[in-house]
Amino acid sequence: MLSTPRLTPESYKRLVETARNDPEAFWLRESSRLAWSVTPKSAVDTGKGWFSDGALNASVNCLDRHLATRGDQTAIIWQGEEDSNVLRLSYRELHARVCALANILRDSGVKRGDRVAIHLPAVVEGIIAMQACARIGAMHMVLFGGFSAEAIADRLADSGAVVVITANVGRRGAKRIPFKTTMDAAIALRGEASTVRRVLVVEVTDDAVPLTEGRDSLLTSLLEAAPTTCEPEAMNATDPLFLLYTSGSTGKPKGIVHGTGGYLTWASYTHELIFDHQPGDVFWCTADIGWITGHTYVSYGPLANGATLLLFEGMPSHPTPGRWWDVIQKHGVTTFYTSPTAIRALMSEGNEIPAGYDLSSLRVLGSVGEPINHEAWTWFHDVIGGGRCALVDTWWQTETGGAMISLVPYAVEPRPASATLPLPGVNPVLLDEKGTPLDGAVEGILCIDGSWPGRALTIWNDDALFQTTYLKPYPGHYFTGDGARRDADGYYWITGRVDDVINVSGHRIGSAEIEDAISEIHDISESSAVGIPHDIKGQGLVVYIVPHEGLSEEQTAGLKDQVIRTIACKVGRYAVPEAVYVVPDLPKTRSGKNVRRLMRKIACGETEGFGDLSTLANPGIVNDLIRIVGKA
Ligand code: WT7
Repeated sequence: MLSTPRLTPESYKRLVETARNDPEAFWLRESSRLAWSVTPKSAVDTGKGWFSDGALNASVNCLDRHLATRGDQTAIIWQGEEDSNVLRLSYRELHARVCALANILRDSGVKRGDRVAIHLPAVVEGIIAMQACARIGAMHMVLFGGFSAEAIADRLADSGAVVVITANVGRRGAKRIPFKTTMDAAIALRGEASTVRRVLVVEVTDDAVPLTEGRDSLLTSLLEAAPTTCEPEAMNATDPLFLLYTSGSTGKPKGIVHGTGGYLTWASYTHELIFDHQPGDVFWCTADIGWITGHTYVSYGPLANGATLLLFEGMPSHPTPGRWWDVIQKHGVTTFYTSPTAIRALMSEGNEIPAGYDLSSLRVLGSVGEPINHEAWTWFHDVIGGGRCALVDTWWQTETGGAMISLVPYAVEPRPASATLPLPGVNPVLLDEKGTPLDGAVEGILCIDGSWPGRALTIWNDDALFQTTYLKPYPGHYFTGDGARRDADGYYWITGRVDDVINVSGHRIGSAEIEDAISEIHDISESSAVGIPHDIKGQGLVVYIVPHEGLSEEQTAGLKDQVIRTIACKVGRYAVPEAVYVVPDLPKTRSGKNVRRLMRKIACGETEGFGDLSTLANPGIVNDLIRIVGKA
C-alpha cells in the first residue's frame, strides 16, 4: 500500500497548506514512507541536515522491505536491443543479486564511506551496483557511458574511488563499445597516483578483454560463489549516499553529494506524486544511470515505491524507427519519462510511425532535462498520449535530488509547455538582478526559499564552493542558475540558464569546461563556447577560437579538427560543437571580459540590433565575426 492515495485537487491543496503551515509535521509524516532502523524525531534541516536523528539503509528500503509483500513481483524488466533478449528480475531475485555483489565489494575491502565508481551500459548490473554500494554504506559515483577516458580519470581522481565496476563491452547492434579498455586508459592516465585497487568486470557479452593481474576480476564467477544475504549498514540519515559529477559555469565538474534519508524521502515522494504511481504500473524512464534522472527515477524512486521498472539497452530508432513505441506496446508501459530532445527527434520522423503501435497502456508521460517547446509538448500529449494521458513537465537539477516544479496528475490543471506549480513543500521565488523578490506575473531569476529533503548536502571536497555557488549569490535563497517566468495563476515557465551552462540534448556542459579543454591546444590563444538554439537538441554548442599569431595557413586550417578531437577526448563525444569559428579576437569589454551575449547573437546569424557597443574595447571585431560566421 502506498502512503498517499491518488490526489484530487482538494487533497493536493491540503498538502500544499500543511507543508506551508507545519513543515516539521508534514515532512515527518512523509518520512514514514520509508523504513527506518531509528525513526527520526526531527525533520526540517536547521543546520544538522534533514531527519538528522534518524537511521536507515537505502537498499533495505528499496528491496528488503518489499520481500514480504511483493517478493515475487517483477522489479526490473530488462529489454535488450535484440527483441528476444529479455530479463525479468523479481524483488527477491534482485535482492539476492544485490547482496551477492555487496559481499564481493566488502571482500574487496570497500568500507563505509569509500567511493566506488560505476561505468556500465544499460544493463541490470548498473542498478544492482548502485544498490550494493548503498547496502554497505559506500558512496557510488556513476559515470555516464559516453565519458572519455580523460573525463573518467578526472572524476576517479577527485572522488578517490577505490573500486571500479565496469563492463567488458557495451553493445550497439553488431558494434562493440570498449568500456573496459576505456577504463584501463583512464586508470593508466594517473599512473602510480591512481586510487583504484580493484576493477570488477561485468561480462555483458562473451567478448574477451585484457585483465590486469591482481587488480581485475570477472564478476560472473564471483557472483555465482557469493552468499545471497548481506547484513546492511545502518546509516545516519545525513550520511552521504552517492556523489555525482555535474557541470557548472566555472571550472571543473563538481561532485554533488546526496544524503541518505532526505534524498530517499524525496525520491519516493516525488516519484509517487508526479507519476501518480499505482500498483501494477510499468514505469519506464529512458535516462542513462550516469545522470541524476537515472539515479532518482531509474533506481531509487521506483524501487523505494516497489514499482516495476523497465530498463532498455537499445536506441529509440534502431533497428526500426518505432523501436521505443514497440517496447511500450510489448511490455505494457504505463508511465513513460523522457527528454524533449528525444521527443523532438521522434516527432521529426512523422506521425505514421507511432500510429503503427498500440500505445493504449500509457497513462502518464513525463519530460525532463530542458525546456519543452509548445510543439513538442503538444505532439507528445496528442500523438503519443492519444490526448488522454497526463503529461508532466518536471523541472529540477542534479542538486535538487528530484523534481521540484511539476504537474501533479489529476490534482493540478495542465498548461502546455509549463512545468506548472511547485510540488507541495517547495517554495520557489523569482528575484531581480539585485536579489529582490518579485511578486505576481513576472520573469526573474529562479531561486528556492528554505530547504527541502532532496537538496544536495555539499560538493565533494569543497563545501566552500557549494556555499558560493548556491547559497551566497542571493543570501537566504538557493540559487538554481535558471531563469523563469510566472503567470498570474502562479504557473512557471522555465526560460533556461542565466549562467554559462549550456544544455545540449539535456546534457549540462559548462562553457568553462570546454574552454579549459581547448586551452591545452598550443596554437590557440583563447576560446569561447556559447549555446545557440537548436531544433532537436534544444541548444547547440558553438566555439570561437583565436589562433596564436604567426601560424601558417595550413596550421590554422587544422585547428578546427584539433578542437573537435580535443573536446571528444577530454570531455566526450556528446560535447562536440556544431561549429568552430576561427576569429582574430573575441569581443571584450574594457575590463577584458568576453561578451558572450554578442557571440551568441552572431552565432545565431544576427547581423544587427546588438545595442550599445560603446563599452567594447574592440568594437571593430563585431563585423569580423559577422563576416566569418556568415561565410561558414
Ligand atoms: C538543468 C539541470 C533534471 C534532471 C536532468 C538534468 C534544465 C531540467 C527542465 C525542465 C526546463 C529544465 C535546467 C536545470 N532543466 N529540467 N523541465 N524545463 N529546464 O539535470 O543535468 O542537473 O541539469 O536542466 O536548466 O538547471 P541537470
